[in-house]
Amino acid sequence: MISGKARLAGVMGWPIQHSQSPRLHGYWLDRYEIDGAYVPLSVHPENFETAFRALPTLGFAGVNITVPHKELALKLVERVDPTAQRIGAVNTVVITDDGDLMGYNTDAIGFIENLRQGYPTFKPDVGPAVVLGAGGAARAVICGLLDAGVVDLKLVNRTRERAETLAESLAGFQAGPLPSAITVFDFSEIDEALDGAHLLVNTTSLGMDGKPPLDICLDALPKAALVNDIVYAPLQTDLLKSARERGNPTVDGLGMLLHQACAGFEKWFGVLPDVTDELRHHILKGMDG
Ligand code: ATR
Repeated sequence: MISGKARLAGVMGWPIQHSQSPRLHGYWLDRYEIDGAYVPLSVHPENFETAFRALPTLGFAGVNITVPHKELALKLVERVDPTAQRIGAVNTVVITDDGDLMGYNTDAIGFIENLRQGYPTFKPDVGPAVVLGAGGAARAVICGLLDAGVVDLKLVNRTRERAETLAESLAGFQAGPLPSAITVFDFSEIDEALDGAHLLVNTTSLGMDGKPPLDICLDALPKAALVNDIVYAPLQTDLLKSARERGNPTVDGLGMLLHQACAGFEKWFGVLPDVTDELRHHILKGMDG
């Protein structure tokens, strides 16, 4: 039940009907008994700027931004957090007290928090990390890894040029004593990339329901390497299954969705929410229906 004083948030995207965010934030609003609402906002790209700029007038506390608006949102916000600037996209917006749109990106921290929760003894900064894919998701994952202290990152992508552009724009970031290096590989050279790796992350859409399979051989990957797939539909991707069968520890991708949502919820509604097993089951149940 919401009152006339309810705080308002939502998610803007196109299409929006498959978004899990309303169910996720709705669960927390209920759990923490907050007078607030989080709604799906189906906004066609042609209308995005008008709808986005209207948020302060409508009294929103903020919104999440999803496909395909994340890059345009970065251009339109009046203020931007440095991480969102580096990732080149905004997924979380807060309307400030003076009515400005302030842009953040919580995908990088959501990715790292998911690894931390799923495999608490994992230390991202002690060995090389391999990232498959060089799209928008890869950008956020790589920023998260570099922030967490990874200095040797191997980037494998179908389109080499795209990976090289991404590597050039993100390499050199320094979280610890050494600047990070990003080396680009083709899929045909994947054995070389996997050799000695400490972490393998799939950020491509391969293996997702309705997409082609991710067909890679893990023989060269050390058995102690952590394997993560940011694809969460299906939850147990073929990559995670093959990794587990050969003895590698794995973390699935659902937690990244849950953890990226925490910072926005806290900024809009004033409570830092928990990511629990009950929440995971609640979201998985919604995905089945
Ligand atoms: P997102 O924002 O979700 O990362 P994206 O920017 O479209 O989406 O990136 C998709 C990633 O999946 C890219 O790395 C893409 O490789 P290319 O850069 O070569 O396009 C990768 N990908 C998608 N379909 C693929 C396929 N059939 N084979 C190999 N890689 C694929």
